[in-house]
Amino acid sequence: MEIPFSRWHAAISTRRSRRRYDSGELEPGQLAQLQTICREFRPFQEARADLVTQSPDRIFKGAVGSYGKIKGAAALIAFTGDMDDPYIQEKVGYVGEGAILEATAIGLATCWVGGFFRPKVAASVVGIADNERVLAVTPVGRAVGDFTREERIMTGFGRSHRRKPLAELVSGLDRADWPQWMEPALEAARIAPSAINRQPWRFDVEPGSITISVDNPRFTFGVSKRLDCGIAMLHIEVAALDCGARGRWEFLEAPRVARFTVESGS
Ligand SMILES: Cc1cc2nc3c(=O)[nH]c(=O)nc-3n(C[C@H](O)[C@H](O)[C@H](O)COP(=O)(O)O)c2cc1C
Repeated sequence: MEIPFSRWHAAISTRRSRRRYDSGELEPGQLAQLQTICREFRPFQEARADLVTQSPDRIFKGAVGSYGKIKGAAALIAFTGDMDDPYIQEKVGYVGEGAILEATAIGLATCWVGGFFRPKVAASVVGIADNERVLAVTPVGRAVGDFTREERIMTGFGRSHRRKPLAELVSGLDRADWPQWMEPALEAARIAPSAINRQPWRFDVEPGSITISVDNPRFTFGVSKRLDCGIAMLHIEVAALDCGARGRWEFLEAPRVARFTVESGS
C-alpha cells in the first residue's frame, strides 16, 4: 500500500492521546476504513494491527487505581509482533502508527497504550501464535469534550505537544545545509508520541539521510524505546514524502535504530 502521506502528515500535527471516550459506536464507514488500513498497511510481515470491534474497557488497567485508565472506547486496535524478529519493536511502532494516523485522519481519537493493559486478554481477543506478543494497543473512538485532569497529568498539560526542541535532538549537518525535506521530517518526528512522553530519539543528520538512535537504552519502564523510535520513523517518512523526497529504511544495531536515506534526485 502507498502511504497516504498528505492525510497522514496533517494527522501528525492534530493527533493527541485521549483517554476518555463517549461509549458511542463507530460509523460503518469509519470501521471499514480502519479495517482496510489494518489489512493493507503491512510494510513488514512480522508486525500487524488488528481491529477489535467490542468494548475494550476490560483490556485496560489504571496505573494506580483508576489513574490513567482508558474508558468508554467503542473499539480497540491491537499491535502484535513476531518476537523472533530482532527489529520487531521498531516495526510494530511503524505499523501501529499507520493505524493511529489513519484513525486521526477520519476524526477518531486514540492513545498508544504499552504499559497499562492486559496483554493476555488482548492476545486472546485477537488470537496470536506462540512466537507473537501483543506489544501495545490503542482505544479508538470519540473522545469526550475537553481533556480531563488525568489526561493533562499523563500528557503534560494543555494542547501544546510539550516536546524537546530540535536543537537538543539533532547532531550532524549544519541546519543551514539541510535539504528542503529535512526540517519537516525532523519536526514530524519531534512531535511523535512516546511512552510517558520520554522522546527517546536522537537524530544524526547527513546530506541525504537521517539516522535515529536511542538516547539511553535503560529506564524503559517495560516499554521498549525502540517502539517509540518506530513511530518516529513513520513520521519522518510521511513528512519527507509530502515534501517530494522518497527514501528507504535500513535497520541498525543498538543503540542506533535505523537510517532513512533518500533516493538521489529527491
Ligand atoms: C509506546 C507508547 C506507549 C504508551 N503507553 C501509555 C500507557 O500505558 N498509558 C497511557 O495513558 N498513555 C500511554 N502512552 C501515551 C503517551 O503518554 C503520550 O503519547 C505522550 O504523553 C505524548 O502525548 P500525546 O500523545 O498527546 O502527544 C503511550 C505512548 C506510546 C508511544
